[in-house]
Amino acid sequence: MTLTFLGIESSCDDTAAAIVRSDATILASVVAGQVALHESFGGVVPEIAARAHVEKLDLCVEEALAIAGLTLADLDGVAVTAGPGLIGGVMAGVMLAKGIAAGTGLPLVGVNHLAGHALTPRLTDGIGFPYLMLLVSGGHCQFLHVTGPEQFQRLGGTIDDAPGEAFDKVAKLLGLPQPGGPAVQAAARNGNAGRFDLPRPLLDRPGCDLSFSGLKTAVLRVRDGLVAAQGGLHEQDRNDLCAGFQAAVADVLAEKTRRALAASPVPVLAVAGGVAANSTIREALQRVADQAGAAFVAPPLALCTDNAAMIAWAGIEAFRMGRRDDMTLAGRPRWPL
Ligand code: KG4
Ligand code: ZN
Repeated sequence: MTLTFLGIESSCDDTAAAIVRSDATILASVVAGQVALHESFGGVVPEIAARAHVEKLDLCVEEALAIAGLTLADLDGVAVTAGPGLIGGVMAGVMLAKGIAAGTGLPLVGVNHLAGHALTPRLTDGIGFPYLMLLVSGGHCQFLHVTGPEQFQRLGGTIDDAPGEAFDKVAKLLGLPQPGGPAVQAAARNGNAGRFDLPRPLLDRPGCDLSFSGLKTAVLRVRDGLVAAQGGLHEQDRNDLCAGFQAAVADVLAEKTRRALAASPVPVLAVAGGVAANSTIREALQRVADQAGAAFVAPPLALCTDNAAMIAWAGIEAFRMGRRDDMTLAGRPRWPL
């Protein structure tokens, strides 16, 4: 039987609702970002994010239903991100999902946001288990050996910053706009990655753990050196620093991915998370997959970044495994897979 789920996502700075079917059809996926609200603060402000989610969530759900041409009565379940994330936003989503479930009698499934990202390649590309997932976003960075809808083995991850966070901080250091990833990638296009000698953190240590904070500090030092020597940054300096930084992140991710594939060989390497939108990183990972004889799967950009279609899908997968939540479902700011 084909199931149709509503998905709700509000764990960071995107308010999202989607309607997805168990045959992997996305009937609607609405994402309302909050970039403009947080811009002047240089980062996501949790209280502002939570208020915006409360204001927008029900409108996003209404819009998703309208796009799909459905009403709540046509649904088979409600899936909602129950963590990890900013607790105010998570609670806004969980409360709305509980309200819908209580009012309609629909089953409720609380979804781990990371499982949503990690299962996305099954929604977009229909891949089977097992596979290696490299999850690289603004808040997360980890290698997951995925063997089932709720079976994730962590092979390694960042010991400090997430790569998206590093992209955002480097953009800030260089006076580029937020979110930093796309801005750094655009500047890097006109830059020389070899001009500055930037570190490749943790490559000298065995295993699949990663580190990005030292790389960000190295960019800061080069910037300060240039500012001291020439009174400011020229556009070319900025472009070269962005290219060098991006190349260093790509090198580190590629080498650690090579090790993860060697440690746990699987037929497919998949990526998800906002940083997976980066084309230099994608190309580096494609080469690693080719060398390991694995297929490389990268979902379309709109499904790599935060969205509710992945939550609806993860909810369907969990529901099929027998998972149900009730009115005691609580938001969890920390929720490791
Ligand atoms: O997955 P996501 O939308 O939100 C989190 O759950 O964190 O990821 C957002 C992150 C931001 O840090 C953003 O700078 C980064 O993904 N990002 C990129 C690119 N596009 C977005 N990083 C590098 N290159 C990009 N093209
Ligand atoms: Zn995310």
